[in-house]
Amino acid sequence: MTAVRIVEVGPRDGLQNEPALVPTDLKLRFIRLLVDAGLTEIEATSFVSPKWVPQLGDAEQLWPRLPGGAKYSALVPNARGLERALACGVRRLAFFTAASEAFNRKNVNMGIAESLAGFEQMMSVLKERGNRSEFWVRGYVSTAFECPYSGRVEPKVVVSVCRRLIEIGVDEVSVGDTIGVAVPREVRDLTRSLFEEIEPGRIAYHFHDTRGTAVANVAEALELGVRCFDSSAGGLGGCPYAPGAGGNLATEDLVYFLDRSGIETGVSLEPLAMASLPIFDLLGRPPQSKAQIAALSLAGPSQAGTE
Ligand code: HMG
Ligand code: MG
Repeated sequence: MTAVRIVEVGPRDGLQNEPALVPTDLKLRFIRLLVDAGLTEIEATSFVSPKWVPQLGDAEQLWPRLPGGAKYSALVPNARGLERALACGVRRLAFFTAASEAFNRKNVNMGIAESLAGFEQMMSVLKERGNRSEFWVRGYVSTAFECPYSGRVEPKVVVSVCRRLIEIGVDEVSVGDTIGVAVPREVRDLTRSLFEEIEPGRIAYHFHDTRGTAVANVAEALELGVRCFDSSAGGLGGCPYAPGAGGNLATEDLVYFLDRSGIETGVSLEPLAMASLPIFDLLGRPPQSKAQIAALSLAGPSQAGTE
């Protein structure tokens, strides 16, 4: 079967929602271990307001020190974020909006239309900078199944926001189950609706695993033809503006599922299982991922604990 792309979002989505501020050096160590485990696409940080998300307030310090061996992207919410990212030399950018008006307002203090209008201007800035193909742009659509403030979201609403992002010129849309509610039947319905308007190769899924349904959702989307999934080492993560959002789909659970299904990922489970341990040590809690815990216990009792 065609290889699957994994976009590792642990350093960004994983760390943005933790109460502890992780020192820049420790983030870099985490990222180095992720690269060593074979991850090649890593969302390293966000250029959002440090008042809103202090956990990622060190983006300017982190970016120039990122290790070689992977392609790094960063989240940018607005023109100010883009200016900061471009000043650091970021070439892979992730714009983000939502399928729910209420969520977008809580998350970025603006409506969806205002976010999209901002992205259009940001895309013009990239074009003015010269060759647009120097940049790779992803557009996130959060709350694609349900919003924590306004309830269920219809597939046609998600499709219309995704279509607008593609019209604006993003290379890929990442469709987010921000609070981790979706089940495979809903993934099937949404994926079929998306495929009516957007090529499968331009769609990624970003599942949170709040209710343990993320791997089942990946299996469904994979069967239908989606080939890019976001995940976070150790299942770190959540969104500070989405009450009830659990961690992301753990990269270990995703890699285990894909490997065992005969799909090449290029990622080695054992080193991956260890990569987030220094972060869990700092957070003072154990890892979340079942495949990670199993891999660590097979590696020996000394690796399994985080103390
Ligand atoms: P705002 O307060 O409305 O901003 O925040 P503003 O335009 O009114 O500006 C207020 C001040 O902030 C000004 O400074 C601006 O310069 C500054 P002052 O004049 O007062 O000194 N400012 C900035 N500073 C640094 N970087 C910037 C920036 N923009 C303005 N980019 C804003 C609006 C969008 C900035 C804010 O709401 C924000 O940062 N929100 C980010 C929230 C966030 O990071 N959420 C989590 C990421 S999304 C997610 O996790 C979902 C995802 O994983 C997919 C899924 O799971 O569904 C992607
Ligand atoms: Mg997320």
